[in-house]
Amino acid sequence: MSYARVLGTGSFLPERVVTNADLASTVDTSDEWIVSRTGIRERRIAGPGETTCDLAERAARQALDAAGCLASEIDLVIVATTTPDRVFPGTACLLQERLGIHGPAAFDVQAVCTGFVYALAIAEKFIRTGSAKRALVVGAETMSRIVDWNDRSTCVLFGDGAGAVVVGASDEQGILSSHLHADGAYKDLLTVSTETPERGAASGRITMRGNEVFRMAVTTLDALVGETLAVNDLKKADIRWLVPHQANIRIIAATAKRLGMAMDQVIVTVDRHGNTSAASIPLAFDSGVRDGRIQRGDVVLMEAFGGGLTWGSVLLRY
Ligand code: UT7
Repeated sequence: MSYARVLGTGSFLPERVVTNADLASTVDTSDEWIVSRTGIRERRIAGPGETTCDLAERAARQALDAAGCLASEIDLVIVATTTPDRVFPGTACLLQERLGIHGPAAFDVQAVCTGFVYALAIAEKFIRTGSAKRALVVGAETMSRIVDWNDRSTCVLFGDGAGAVVVGASDEQGILSSHLHADGAYKDLLTVSTETPERGAASGRITMRGNEVFRMAVTTLDALVGETLAVNDLKKADIRWLVPHQANIRIIAATAKRLGMAMDQVIVTVDRHGNTSAASIPLAFDSGVRDGRIQRGDVVLMEAFGGGLTWGSVLLRY
């Protein structure tokens, strides 16, 4: 069986920057509160006509270029998104059409902030079993469309963007292991419900019991990191880069501490992007690759946590 290796990365952010000061003019919050509790300074917000597929397409084209791969060579398209443009068809089908790919499987993965980790793990299994040779895996979100802009406890957290990777069959080691988890017993901690929205919450908008999610995230990621190291018989020092889901700098710092990693071994984008859900890991990964920090051969740990609850990790040699 061949390995599944990342051949190229790409990302895209909408042009419009919304700062903490901008939000402080619409809800009762402050730059000081947002920075000290989350590490977020600004986020990007999609323009009125800009769709999740628009963001996905820009990121995907960049990843294809970086991989030196033609769209016609792609035989699997997976889009991780919580904010699809339509109920159906899936955003992966919309993206496929934009890229002129006809025929190969294309589907969305809905695992909220863990979506990209789920999608990458699925692509790896297609490649390892010989069902696909070159997969396009995208995380793309327009979270601004499901944020309640009157709820200060959530509207300061989220942003829009997209990141992508091309994964291909290779004799060289690539993805080393993936670890996926979920527990629907916690479905109401972080949700967009159109059925019975929580009291005071707008229908179809994000509601979150932030404190409980925070505590679950720290303990769950702690166990996940231990599981990933143990399965690979690795020591903490073997991991060169942590590419975490970007929800809160305090959660990221707790995971880095658990790994005995200095913060300069962690790719951090939460300050500039906020929480872009399924897009946050591929955005951060691409930023580390493009600025030359992540080098070929480096061992990279991706980990995420989100609504579901879902959580998961991918360990790879870049
Ligand atoms: O990506 C999926 C996973 N998501 C996460 O991992 C998010 C996890 N949760 C968090 O990151 C944090 O819980 C938050 C950043 C959401 C909140 O931080 P916190 O330290 O847990 O604050 P809190 O919810 O306990 O709220 C503390 C206070 C409250 O006021 P009182 O009750 O103490 O008077 C809130 O009303 O801060 C208030 N508050 C705000 N104040 C100013 C909540 N939001 C704001 C705000 N500006 N934007």
